[in-house]
Amino acid sequence: MTPLQYTLLQLLADGRFHSGEQMACHAGVTRAAVWKALQGLRAYGIDMHAVSGRGYSLVNGFELLDTNAIVGAMSSATRSALHSLTLLPTVDSTNAWLMRQGEEGGTTACVAEHQTAGRGRRGRRWCSPFGSNLYLSLRCRFDEGMGRLAGLSLAVAIAVVRTLHEMDVKGVGVKWPNDIYWQERKLGGILLEIAGESAGPCSVVVGIGLNVAMPRMEGEMIDQPWTDLASIRPGLSRNQLAGRMLHHLLEVMAEFKCHGLALFEQEWREVDWLYGKPLRLLQPDGEVNGIGRGIAPDGSLLVEVSGKLQRHTFGEVSVRLQDASA
Ligand code: BTN
Repeated sequence: MTPLQYTLLQLLADGRFHSGEQMACHAGVTRAAVWKALQGLRAYGIDMHAVSGRGYSLVNGFELLDTNAIVGAMSSATRSALHSLTLLPTVDSTNAWLMRQGEEGGTTACVAEHQTAGRGRRGRRWCSPFGSNLYLSLRCRFDEGMGRLAGLSLAVAIAVVRTLHEMDVKGVGVKWPNDIYWQERKLGGILLEIAGESAGPCSVVVGIGLNVAMPRMEGEMIDQPWTDLASIRPGLSRNQLAGRMLHHLLEVMAEFKCHGLALFEQEWREVDWLYGKPLRLLQPDGEVNGIGRGIAPDGSLLVEVSGKLQRHTFGEVSVRLQDASA
């Protein structure tokens, strides 16, 4: 998205009609440039009414992300724990962007309206159309060592669940280690990446992607069952969601640093999507079938195979339900 397109969108986000002349004057460009920029917005799935004598308005209204609204949804304690929040109209990936930033001397976050190369786990692409979903990353120092990162990724899933529960989204499950599910469909995902040195103290970038209102065309390209919040609990504000997500994320990070995964065991049990289900575990050396039996204290997956409990660590296996493609 060009800076001009983003400027016009900010103007149109009030849902009213704006004339070509008014927009040209506001942006300091010609009417022809405005017209061309508006045409280009269609490529982002943004449609406009054009009415002669009145000008242009957005067909479905639009809530653009807004840093003041996001920060305003946090508590004063979590707000002061955050060094900076950057809003990017478009970026390759919010995780990659934070990874490129140096240590700013504190916990930093960024949100984006659009990702051109959104990253999923296992090198997959994360579908990231403009203005539709939540793409949020947090970078913070992590002195506890890499060995604890697997447990951290489960705790982050609990932060997402807390946010969704607070927004009255019921029936959310977590597929180990950190896929967010709703009724057998993926609603969101989490990607942890290490910035800088991997040995000893490091910086960790926590990326959260949540489908809020996935455009139909983009959704058709996703190769697994998915859902979005618009289908479960319509009308949620992305700014409120981003602010509360950051709030819970910062709280969970602090809790995890003090108490480790043990603090989240009960909450995990309540949302464990794999518990008691017949599973297929895909490993480089073959496939194992078993029943999900929760998690071990270090966050590894417990699976009952022929009456015996096996532990499977993060990154080593890919888990599927025996009777589904998820
Ligand atoms: C998964 O595969 O389930 C993890 C998806 C993580 C997507 C989020 S969107 C914000 C952040 N930036 C990225 O490029 N990826 C994560």
